[in-house]
Amino acid sequence: MEMKGRLKLFVNSPLWPFVLRRIIARRLLRRLAELRPERVLEIGCGRGDTTRWLLDLYPHASVTAVDYDGAQIGAARRRVADARASFVRADASALPFPADAFDLVVAMNVMHHVIPWRRAIAECYRVLEPGGAFAAVDEDMAALGPVVRWYDAPEAIIPKAAYVAAAKDAGFVLEADLGGRGVYELLFRAPG
Ligand SMILES: C[S@@+](CC[C@H](N)C(=O)[O-])C[C@H]1O[C@@H](n2cnc3c(N)ncnc32)[C@H](O)[C@@H]1O
Repeated sequence: MEMKGRLKLFVNSPLWPFVLRRIIARRLLRRLAELRPERVLEIGCGRGDTTRWLLDLYPHASVTAVDYDGAQIGAARRRVADARASFVRADASALPFPADAFDLVVAMNVMHHVIPWRRAIAECYRVLEPGGAFAAVDEDMAALGPVVRWYDAPEAIIPKAAYVAAAKDAGFVLEADLGGRGVYELLFRAPG
């Protein structure tokens, strides 16, 4: 689903990369620095802040970034001009990629925007090769209640336990629950 106006403004503001790296996804980003993927998929890339970070972190990897919103894909293409990056307008719940196409999939604060989010998690599993990693950040309604009501769609927020259960149903094993305040940071593995 499209982001609400206030959220879209926030995610496209200069504040967002700081909030993302220093607060929302701090632990997960540190953990991702330990991996050496070659084919990375980012779903819900927005204007490409995480895409840029992934390209810098993995200098030998290709990064495919998808978003449902054509305006966000356009912004990402303009902001992240890099031969190793490709941008595709696509729905996370019906990814236009074959099975086993990637060795790392990243979903940075995205699933609560995707109405069929369980199907999107299953898609992340399908496109990952065995042994691949799925890195996920999302919001915790219990901790962020009033904030979420201000800028996001509270009815769509996914409790952490439900996210983990859906990922396990899809076939993932939870490798690390990195905690976080107001958000959760999770690293899953597709069994090899
Ligand atoms: C909060 S933004 C995430 C920003 C980005 N992940 C980052 O790290 O900067 C959520 C993004 O998910 C996208 N989105 C929403 N529903 C989607 C879907 N079904 N498939 C793919 N992307 C979707 C939105 O258009 C938006 O760009």
